[in-house]
Amino acid sequence: MTGQKIDGIAVSTAVKDRVKAAVKELQNSNVTPCLATVLVGDDPASATYVKNKQKACADVGITTKDHKLPASFSQKEMNSLIDLLNKDDTVHGILVQLPLPNQLDEFTTTSRISPIKDVDGLTPYNIGLLTSGRAILKPCTPSGIMEMFDYYKISLEGKNVVVINRSNLVGKPLYNLMLEKNATVTTCHSRTKNLKEHCLAADIIITAIGNRAKFVLTEDMIREGAIIIDVGTARLEGKLVGDVDYDNVIKKASYVTPVPGGVGPMTIAMLLKNTVTAASISREFVKHD
Ligand code: GUN
Repeated sequence: MTGQKIDGIAVSTAVKDRVKAAVKELQNSNVTPCLATVLVGDDPASATYVKNKQKACADVGITTKDHKLPASFSQKEMNSLIDLLNKDDTVHGILVQLPLPNQLDEFTTTSRISPIKDVDGLTPYNIGLLTSGRAILKPCTPSGIMEMFDYYKISLEGKNVVVINRSNLVGKPLYNLMLEKNATVTTCHSRTKNLKEHCLAADIIITAIGNRAKFVLTEDMIREGAIIIDVGTARLEGKLVGDVDYDNVIKKASYVTPVPGGVGPMTIAMLLKNTVTAASISREFVKHD
């Protein structure tokens, strides 16, 4: 069996088309969605991610406010900046690019963002809604993966899913989203025993390690017809690669996402979708005289 490539460009284009239409509708009622991006330090990968997000915003008519801060930016300064952005009625979404330098605490920072501007879905309020199955703003990578399943009409009902990641951005929200769809979800991580056995029992494997020296998902680790979602990104001999040995795995799997052109474009598309959603709900909170 040779599997099918899941085309993240095609799925993200479909999402972006819907976002474009929603932006036009908001503009008709004099609201231009605006995303504030916050980047601390000069990590080149993070800078590229933020640039790509800003460009994607411009492509669909979302404006951006760019906040580039020095690597020495303090927690106090970060708190003040987030307070300002929370109060600014022209800003609908706030994205603080992660990871942050050591002096900045990730939880202190993300939890200060107003939940209605939390386009990453990382505030305690939005995480609480997510675990209750009621979230409106959901973390972008996990909701992008769910969108891919929808597009390809892949049902999660009763499926055994293995997620190799337990982060707040990927593994934990995925657990909740897939549980809502009646999957049986196993979260694996660095202390998991017998990872290969878990993988061999899985109908769907979602891997997000991003370190080829530590982990590669090879064809002997999957069962015939499995669905493989690759969230990993790493550089190998100058090339962008994922966690999956794609050329060999696709010969045994039913579906595989490539890197690049798989989950990456979905993360950005869902950020645009969340920003438009945040702009729509902001209207309910605007004070009327
Ligand atoms: N760093 C890597 N992925 C993400 C993401 O989805 N959101 C933020 N804020 N930072 C990230």
